[in-house]
Order: sequence, then structure tokens, then C-alpha cells
Amino acid sequence: MSWGIIATWRMALEGIEVSSEKISKGMSAGDIVESVVKAVEDYPLYKSVGYGGLPNENCEVELDAAFMDGNSLSIGAVAGIKDFKNPVSMAKRLSEEKYNCFLVGTGAEEYGDENGFERKNMLTERAISFYNKRKKAIKEKGLSPYDGHDTVGVVALDIEGTMAVATSTSGLFMKKRGRVGDSPISGSGFYVDSNIGGAAATGLGEDLMKGCVSYEIVRLMGEGHSPQDAADRTIMKLNNELIRRRGYAGDLSVVCMNNKGQWGVATNIKEFTFSVATSNEKPKVYITKNLEGKTVYEEADEEWLKGYIKKINKKVE
Ligand code: GLY
Repeated sequence: MSWGIIATWRMALEGIEVSSEKISKGMSAGDIVESVVKAVEDYPLYKSVGYGGLPNENCEVELDAAFMDGNSLSIGAVAGIKDFKNPVSMAKRLSEEKYNCFLVGTGAEEYGDENGFERKNMLTERAISFYNKRKKAIKEKGLSPYDGHDTVGVVALDIEGTMAVATSTSGLFMKKRGRVGDSPISGSGFYVDSNIGGAAATGLGEDLMKGCVSYEIVRLMGEGHSPQDAADRTIMKLNNELIRRRGYAGDLSVVCMNNKGQWGVATNIKEFTFSVATSNEKPKVYITKNLEGKTVYEEADEEWLKGYIKKINKKVE
């Protein structure tokens, strides 16, 4: 039976490398998406997810995460939580609840404490340096505070044919306290149905939510569109509508996979990266290259991969 994992951004690669071996041996899609997301949440140099994520305008790291099971359609999500090591694990546990499966702020934190989820100070010295640097730049140059909103979103198909999806993010850098984006919102940041396929989004939550992009992609795949076609149609349509009606479209990027393990991606930004492994292909990073109505991508070469490591390790000046 074929299997597959696809995730937004290069940052998911290490988690996918470890998980591809496990999924090929029978680990469930639900456990796989959780473990790929946890690997990103735990890594201090990824600035938009979990530990090391960039803070809100009050210099607090507020985290959002979600989980969905494609067999039962169960959903769990948390939003605006502080100081928990793995928000995705809380979301996964919440998906087992019949009621109260999406919790925010202090209510979510109480749930985390009552159910033994590990606490951790998620604000790193590095994130504080980025915050101070941005504060200074805003004061001196009047820059827009809003920048940086890269969610990790992972879709998996296991060898039993079950699909699952999970997301996690620290949201928009310098966001208002209490701001929530698309990542924990079913249908916008994520959606999965094992009978069809799944999708996850990254980009500007305020705009992704205007198109319910993840549900729309799954709906189109259910009507017979290939994952690539469903992703392209959804992103291009939302991008064009937003420009037509509002004069501007924020960053919109998606990954998706159907229940045969075929995958697709689409974006309206210059360089969107994503990580994939399937029963037919070893873990790889791809970079999108073309935005003319149909997304084109190529495998990241050694030079790009080395440059990426250098970039994320760069000292904050
Ligand atoms: N896409 C993540 C966010 O806007 O919060």
C-alpha cells in the first residue's frame, strides 16, 4: 500500500526524514503528522513555530495548532496559548473530545495543565533580539510591524489508507495579543477526508481565511481534480479575487495530497518551499518557480540547502 507525507516549507524536512521510515513500517498518519510538527515546534531556529517562534507586540509567544483525523473527521485545535512545549499534541488530544475540542487562551492552558502537557518558556533570547530589532526599525523607519507567518502544515497518508493533517504556528510576528490566523481554523488552515485527500495552508491568515482554501482544495479533489490542479485553481482564484475586490492579496501557499499519495502545491509568492516523501520518493525539498496560473517547482540543490542552514543560523544583528 502506498504512503505519503507532504509539508509546508523546508523546516519540515528533518521530521519527514525520521517519519518516512516509521510510516513505511505502519505508523498511523495521525502519529506521523504529530511527530513531524513536534520536530519543528522543538527546533529553536525556526522563527514562526513553537520554541523560538517570534512574539506578538507585547513580546509574548502566542501559539496556534490544529489536528484532524481523515477517517472520523475529528478536529482538535488550540489558539493563543503560551508556554506549552507542543501545542500540536494538545490539539491532537482535543480531537478525541466530543465537545470543547477547540480551546483558546487560558481555557486551553488549563486543559493543558490538567492533562499533563509539558510546560516550557517558548520565548528564546534570539526571538527577543528579533523583537528588539523590529521595534527599533519600526520606530526609526516606520516599517509595517506585520511580517513572518510561516506555518508548518503536514498532510499524511498511511499504509492503511488513513489520512491526517496537523498545523502549528506562532502566527504573525508583532501581531495584536489574541489575534488568531487560519492555522487552527478547520477548512482554512487545514482539512482532510480519508475518502478524498487533505490540504494545509501557510501565509497571511487574514487572507487565507477569506477563501477557506484547505476545504476548497479537498472539495475539488473530491470532484475529480488532480491535487495540483485543485491547489492551483484554489490559490489563483482567491489571489485574483482579492486583488480585484481589495487591490491586494497577502501571501497564500498550500500543500495537498489525495488518498492515492499524489500531491500538489500552489502559491502566489516568489519562493515557496515544501518537503515531501512518498513510497516512491525519498525525502526531498522543492522550491516553486512559476506563478503564471500553474505552479512549477524544482528540487532544491545542494547550494540552496547549504545556504538555508547558513541563513537560519545567522546571528541577529
Ligand atoms: N498562517 C498563519 C497565520 O496567519 O497566523
